[in-house]
This record gives sequence, structure tokens and C-alpha cells, in this order.
Amino acid sequence: MNLFDVYSLWEIEPVRAKGCHVWDSEGTEYLDLYGGHAVISVGHSHPHYVKAVQDQVEKIGFYSNSVQNSLQQGLADKLGEQSGYPAHSLFLCNSGAEANENALKLASFHTGKKRVIAFNGAFHGRTSGAVAVTENPSIQAPFNRGHEVTFVPLNDIEAVKTEIEKDDVAAVIIEGIQGVAGIYTPENLFLQQLASLCNQHNVVLILDEIQSGYGRSGQFFAHQSAGILPDLITMAKGMGNGFPIGGLLISPEFEAKKGMLGTTFGGNHLACAAAIAVLDILKEESLVKNAEEMGNYLQQELSKIAAITEIRGRGLMLGVEFLPEFATVRNRLLFESRIFTGGAKNNVMRLLPPLSISKEEIDTFITELKKKMI
Ligand SMILES: Cc1ncc(COP(=O)(O)O)c(C=O)c1O
Repeated sequence: MNLFDVYSLWEIEPVRAKGCHVWDSEGTEYLDLYGGHAVISVGHSHPHYVKAVQDQVEKIGFYSNSVQNSLQQGLADKLGEQSGYPAHSLFLCNSGAEANENALKLASFHTGKKRVIAFNGAFHGRTSGAVAVTENPSIQAPFNRGHEVTFVPLNDIEAVKTEIEKDDVAAVIIEGIQGVAGIYTPENLFLQQLASLCNQHNVVLILDEIQSGYGRSGQFFAHQSAGILPDLITMAKGMGNGFPIGGLLISPEFEAKKGMLGTTFGGNHLACAAAIAVLDILKEESLVKNAEEMGNYLQQELSKIAAITEIRGRGLMLGVEFLPEFATVRNRLLFESRIFTGGAKNNVMRLLPPLSISKEEIDTFITELKKKMI
């Protein structure tokens, strides 16, 4: 049987990884500045994480959500404390798109409305609802266009206001920092105005922190720099450090009803064990602070390279634009220097390394990047 051929693949097969390093099937070592689409938060194969998952496999890997599972409450308690959202409640699922799908559904239940405001350049996932609020017509089937979604420019509060005042809007969904679009950050003032507008008009504010959350921006969630309290916050990627898990933080204003949301695999024992280990390591090793410090250092060193024309983002979520041809620089970094980096729309280099990255590893990257800029 063939695999359904939808991915462009590098001809490299990682078979082993540790911290910020990956080894391929021929034993070649790579430095990882991409973390598999921002998934690797605490570093590859961290010993505490490996042990937690292994121990859990030996006890019980899975049972359904029809029985008690105290790992879920354990995860919720730690997440509430570390994220700064102890009063929100937690719904667990398996991926980012699924988290957004549930958020959109909750917003519609809560308001009885269905139109959604999203932003130009937004990426929210590939399920029917999530792809409908993603601004990329080439990945939407005609079916998705049946959703009532209006796209407006990022940071344009007047455009949002015009739509919200029509009084048929259930939710506004916004990324903490736009990732796939090429790293664009909502301004703090815009987020504050957006939160108050949503509040005044009973519109649910959904913060998609799937890529920008879990410490990557140097705060637990990127939107926390604006001091706002969204109604719903979606997470995935770094939450399980590679174990598939997603989640939704839900404001106390939302009333849970039995059967309202549900999933077979969401919140399973193994996923919870992995997610608890991630939170323990983030705290123990102060990785959110490391993301802030190393992000500042990385920006500082990048800004010394003359060929770089723009650096965007915060912490360890950076977008870099430069004059030499993007694909050549990225390919040479990978095949000559053995460094993984990411790409985004319009030839933007996307840097999303593990939050445990060190100064020495950043120095290696900068030295190699400079060589490829010539
Ligand atoms: C901001 C954002 N939201 C949602 C998603 C979808 O997540 P998943 O691929 O886990 O469904 C992504 C994935 O890249 C993302 O970057």
C-alpha cells in the first residue's frame, strides 16, 4: 500500500534525538532549530519525560473517559497554576485543530450565533471548522466555504468593530503570534481593544496559542503580554513534547453540560503522563525564562547580520527575512551545516527551537547562518 502523497519530504530520516539534536539513520547529527513545527518544548527525549511515559505504559496506557482518571485532574491543577489560569477549566483532546473546533463549537453554543471573525494570514488547522477560519483558500474544500467566516486585517480594530456591531458574531479567533503566515504579532493595544469589544458585545474571544503557547514566547501564553483574559484558549504542539495532545482552557462563564463535548482519545493516561512531565520540566528547568533569555540573545545575534532585513516575533518564535534566496540558504543550512530551520509564507525563515536551547547552540547556528548568507 502506498502512503497518500500529501507531504513534501526531506530525504532525511531522524531515528534518534536528544535535547536540541537529532541523528539520522546514517548517524549524522543535526541541530534542531525547528522542533518539528514548534512541538518540541522541553527538548527531545528528556530523561524525565521518557521515564514518565514508560512508567505509565507499564501501568495503563488507555481507558475511556467513562471512568475516573486522576491524571487529568493532576494535569489541570499544574496547568492552572503554571499558566496563570487557575479559574478556567480544561477540556482535553488530541490536536490543535480539534481544540479550535471545540472552541468554535462552544462559542456557538454560548452565544447562539455562528459567524466568526478571523484574521488575514490566519492558520488554525485542517478540520472542517478550523480550516474555515484559516485564510488560505487553496486548502479549503467548497464544503468549508459554507461556514460563516469573515477575515479582517490583523491589528485593525475598526475593521473588527464594523463586523462585531452587526450583532451576529459568535467568536473572534486570533493566534497569540501568527506562525504559518510568517510570524506576525498582534499589538498589545489591539488585543486590549479586541478583548473589551468582545466583552461589550458578548462575543467569545478565542486565543489560539497552539504554536505560540506553552512558554515559547517567553511567557506561558503570548497574549499575556497584553494582560487580557480570553474566554477560550487553545493549545497543542508543545503541550505533549511530541505526544499528541491538545486542550482548551475555558472561562468559568461557560457552563458545562454532559455530552456537550467529547472524544475517545482525549485525556488518555499516556497523553496526560506526557503532558504532566512537560509541565514539571518547564518548571524545574525554568524553560519559559530560558525561552525569553535565549530568544533575546538569538534576536541580538541575528540583528548583527547585515543581510537580514527584518526579525519578527518574541522569545523562541522568530521570523527572519533576508536578502539572499531563502530556499538556497535553508537548504545549505540543512545539507551542509546539518541544521534544521523552518519556513513560512513568503520565504520567511521560521525559528522554533526547543525551549531548552543553549547559548552555545545558538552560536553554532549563527556562525553557520553567516556562512550561508554570502
Ligand atoms: C496556530 C495553529 N493553530 C492550529 C494548528 C493546527 O494544529 P494541528 O496540526 O495539531 O491540528 C496549527 C498547526 O500548525 C497552528 O500553528
